[in-house]
Amino acid sequence: MKVIGVACSCLARSNSLKAVEAFLKGAAEAGHETELIRLDRDLRGCIGCQACKKEGAGLCVQKDVLARYFELLPEAGAVVLGAANYMGYAQGEAWTFMNRHYCLSGGDRKLKIEPGKKFYAFFAQGSPDNPAYREHYDEMCRPFEGMGFARQDVLIVSRDTAEEKIREAYELGKAL
Ligand SMILES: Cc1cc2nc3c(=O)[nH]c(=O)nc-3n(C[C@H](O)[C@H](O)[C@H](O)COP(=O)(O)O)c2cc1C
Repeated sequence: MKVIGVACSCLARSNSLKAVEAFLKGAAEAGHETELIRLDRDLRGCIGCQACKKEGAGLCVQKDVLARYFELLPEAGAVVLGAANYMGYAQGEAWTFMNRHYCLSGGDRKLKIEPGKKFYAFFAQGSPDNPAYREHYDEMCRPFEGMGFARQDVLIVSRDTAEEKIREAYELGKAL
């Protein structure tokens, strides 16, 4: 299957990026086709143009870093998102990424892609794992269910557990 990695952090040494890369490495070793898309530049928010709701429209019409993502998505079997925690929540790029999935339903509200694609989310944070942050991550991830994704358990990559969790990300990819 095709597996798309989406990494939000701008940092070269980002833990969420490392976890996404590890997942893709595992998936590739398991025989899947993988591609990484980094949202550290040229990411635009949904502009509410409604072009995606016109009859016969494709996915999003914007030509930014997500154009490639929406080109790959219809054929993909899994998406893995990596994001940093900023001020207790998933960083803004992750929310923008989520918002842009508005284009997946047409004017008739029907989904334009096959449902059931696996959705993994990895969050990197300084603090240890805690229920308040998990609730915030859940809020960001919940809309993916409405868009037909099969949401998987989130993976928390905290500063103290990074090495172990990046290894876990690799195992998750390998188990795909
Ligand atoms: C603007 C900013 C806000 C942050 N806020 C939090 C926070 O509220 N809680 C926390 O645990 N870590 C916080 N951190 C730490 C990051 O979540 C941590 O460094 C994480 O590894 C960043 O993800 P990345 O390594 O994928 O870039 C913050 C970092 C920055 C730059």
